[in-house]
Amino acid sequence: MRLDRFLSNQPRFSRLDARQLLASGRVRVDGQVSRDGRDEVRAFSRVEVDDELLQAGKPARYFMLHKPAGVVSATQHPEHRTVLDLLDEPDIQDLHIGGRLDLTTTGLLIITNDGLWSRRLTEPRSRLGKTYRVETEQPIGNEYIDAFARGLYFAYEDLTTLPAELEILDSHTARLTLHEGRYHQVKRMFGHFNNKVLRLHRERMGPLVLDPALAVGQYRSLSESEITQV
Ligand code: URA
Repeated sequence: MRLDRFLSNQPRFSRLDARQLLASGRVRVDGQVSRDGRDEVRAFSRVEVDDELLQAGKPARYFMLHKPAGVVSATQHPEHRTVLDLLDEPDIQDLHIGGRLDLTTTGLLIITNDGLWSRRLTEPRSRLGKTYRVETEQPIGNEYIDAFARGLYFAYEDLTTLPAELEILDSHTARLTLHEGRYHQVKRMFGHFNNKVLRLHRERMGPLVLDPALAVGQYRSLSESEITQV
């Protein structure tokens, strides 16, 4: 929400009061004087007028989880355990998943309460690569490299996938980097060659690499530098 609106939403401030408070430098957001009513107030922002605290701001929280197979990337599910069940954290209902994985897919999953940040990580516009290790039923041919780099047509969405990079590691294993996240995208891309994906594991999302110290099912908070790199 805009700062001027946030202020005038307080029962004791009119719109004129809000403008005057801003103009006179009496409003601070996260400790800095703000004179611009267009500044953004988020759930995480601390907002003060003079020495009075109007909003303390929630702490922003960022986690990486080594997702096991058989656990759903959702906040609730009638049948399966969800990834949130693996977290021992307060206010779990505030958290969401940045970039879901299929039930059987393992690897890096990001969980946070910061929606703007997670959007930067996942939206195709940011062009951040998501890297998967893929094991397949049939051998992986060199012709896949060009096809994935050109993009494949997905009739259901009527779109062509963005150029993706494939590195063949051995006859049945490859590393694939995507710059978007379409529904079952990796499986459908290999499905184009009638090649079934047997195992899928996400190693990286943009600058965030799955910590090798995390056993399957374990998680940790992101470091300050991991958070700011996104
Ligand atoms: N592509 C898939 O097919 N599944 C995933 O879980 C992620 C990407």
